Amino acid sequence: MSTQKPVRRNTTPKIRNMKGGDPIVSLTSYHAHTAAIVDRYADFILVGDSLGMVMHGMETTVGVPLDLMIMHGKAVVRGTQKALIVVDMPFGTYEESPNMAFRNAAKIMKETGCGAVKLEGGARMAETIHFLTERGIPVMAHIGLTPQSSHVMGGFKTQGRDEATWDAHIADAKAVAEAGAFAMVVEGVVEPLAAKITKLVDIPTIGIGASAECDGQILVLEDMLGLNATPPKFVKVYGDLANQIEASVKAYAEEVKDRSFPTEDQVYR
Ligand code: KIV
Repeated sequence: MSTQKPVRRNTTPKIRNMKGGDPIVSLTSYHAHTAAIVDRYADFILVGDSLGMVMHGMETTVGVPLDLMIMHGKAVVRGTQKALIVVDMPFGTYEESPNMAFRNAAKIMKETGCGAVKLEGGARMAETIHFLTERGIPVMAHIGLTPQSSHVMGGFKTQGRDEATWDAHIADAKAVAEAGAFAMVVEGVVEPLAAKITKLVDIPTIGIGASAECDGQILVLEDMLGLNATPPKFVKVYGDLANQIEASVKAYAEEVKDRSFPTEDQVYR
């Protein structure tokens, strides 16, 4: 008989209850092996649609298909035990109607085994968030800078620089909280607005480029590891992976070229 206690995954109520308490740690991950490392430290892991840009070289997240999110979502669920896994709903899979959103969110949850989905938009998505949560699908909202709308927003621009726009962002935050979201990503908003939103809503705010005033933080893993040559300005880069990979590949290529590659160790036994 095993004496080891099974590890229990974090749940959406647990993340919801972290409001105003210990800061929530989260990162994106798209693969089983990086997710296994992140899992030791993160309260939740987001399989973000940023994978279209980070892993697949797309210009924006607009072209990301549902099946790609599901494939990466499955990998991250397989690689992890503890963190709540949240999978992004890609552009075009939820905006048209609550019914459409339910169909696609249910597909994501059934096929990946994730614990929640995330979708972008504030007040305009409140009806859909309510529809999904009433039917058993936990939703993380995403307000402020919403990359899927970058074509309408005119690019990736900090939100709330003009105080006259704050009311609309605050209304978005209140609407998604009232609709039943268990947490919300607040992306690319000025610090005093992030602080105000965090104070006004009773669910956790997860900041990205939105200051330490939020209840938690999220970064794109590849950005903070130093794999992205041009990370967004707000990102603190903790690693030097691009240079480490380059040095390793160079050393390998040189050994192969000059035949100093250690052949005895390179056979299947
Ligand atoms: O897609 C993503 O990675 C995201 C984060 C930036 C929050 O939505």
